[in-house]
Amino acid sequence: MTTTALLTGAAGKVGKYVIGALARRGIQVVATDIVSKGIPDDIRFEACDLTDAAAVRRLVSLVKPDVVVHCAAVVAPISYAEPELAEAVNLGGTRHLIDATKTHAPDAFFAFVSSYAAFGPCAPGDPIRRSTDPCWPDDNYGLQKLTAESWLQYSGLRQCSLRLGAVMDLDNLMPAHPSYRPFVFMVSLDQPEHGVDVRDAARAIASAAVQQPDGHLLLIGGDDSWKVPARQLRGEMFGAMGLSMPPEKAFRPGADPSVKDGWFYECWMDEKYSEQLLGFQRISRAAFMDELRKRYWVQRLALLPVRPFVSRTLTAASPYTGRRAIKPGPTLWNDVFRVYDLPFEVARNRSSQPPPPSPFV
Ligand SMILES: NC(=O)c1ccc[n+]([C@@H]2O[C@H](COP(=O)([O-])OP(=O)(O)OC[C@H]3O[C@@H](n4cnc5c(N)ncnc54)[C@H](O)[C@@H]3O)[C@@H](O)[C@H]2O)c1
Repeated sequence: MTTTALLTGAAGKVGKYVIGALARRGIQVVATDIVSKGIPDDIRFEACDLTDAAAVRRLVSLVKPDVVVHCAAVVAPISYAEPELAEAVNLGGTRHLIDATKTHAPDAFFAFVSSYAAFGPCAPGDPIRRSTDPCWPDDNYGLQKLTAESWLQYSGLRQCSLRLGAVMDLDNLMPAHPSYRPFVFMVSLDQPEHGVDVRDAARAIASAAVQQPDGHLLLIGGDDSWKVPARQLRGEMFGAMGLSMPPEKAFRPGADPSVKDGWFYECWMDEKYSEQLLGFQRISRAAFMDELRKRYWVQRLALLPVRPFVSRTLTAASPYTGRRAIKPGPTLWNDVFRVYDLPFEVARNRSSQPPPPSPFV
């Protein structure tokens, strides 16, 4: 009997590759998203806004999936610039999907695509993260991912969560949303980053959909070659594209490593168990950079004479330079609050909702 997978976020950076990875494993894919751009014609597509509970119920009762692969999300830094939307999709949408699955497809396996944001901030020199480590997310995105993971764990469904590292896609190096331009500079160059090629991430997700490792929390990052500081990853990518790295002063400086929340959530993960179980790692950092250099060789040559000008233009997007420069705050969230001009309540609660009333007053 053919297995049917309902894939949310199918038109997104990761979802697009998950379609192929599932189909190659003989799974019939029903793709869903609010947009259908890039979904192959031979894949069944059902438009659905996950924030609409009734529409999600209709979708799940129509498809009756054997597997739900939940990729849709409002990712960081878009979640910082649009906190209400992030909450509606990352919490509300996930809640609707879990509830609809329990009602209309209670035997389905639910694979939730989470993020290493759930761990919370990580300083250079911190131990490598394991799936059993405690979590203390300090941004809305990480809090939402951790909350959704725990809803799923206690849902009664068969389920797993996959915490992805920094997903690298040769076709989509910098998403178009304007929140990304300043954010590039808001992560210190000393931040540990754990990259993974999007094709490997998709392989991991599809493999989990097939193997259905119930109750697992899986850490999905590239092999050891991908565990590098941001400085190295950025430097190699800028170089491969023919751009010079913006000056150090354009980036948020590294905070005191003993003060956790001065840092971003990116970290190095122990992905060995996930690799053993899912067998997804094929593309090393060197192989990725080789492909990138091959793609960009014409641009590299063309940019040679104008490199200083392009570098200045890029640097102008940094929130730490120029006339309206901000002084780096003690935590990254302080900077996020100012750069994206968040309302005070959102900045204080990391949420657009007021916190629930305390039971102690
Ligand atoms: N990109 C990364 O580096 C990264 C890292 C860690 C984890 N992840 C996780 O991987 C998953 C996929 O991320 P991505 O990079 O493909 O993100 P993306 O933004 O490219 O794709 C997300 C998709 O969700 C869809 N979506 C948004 N709101 C929706 C709604 N209301 N209803 C239905 N669909 C909606 C969007 O249209 C989009 O196609 C996410 O869960 C994300 O948290 C991504």
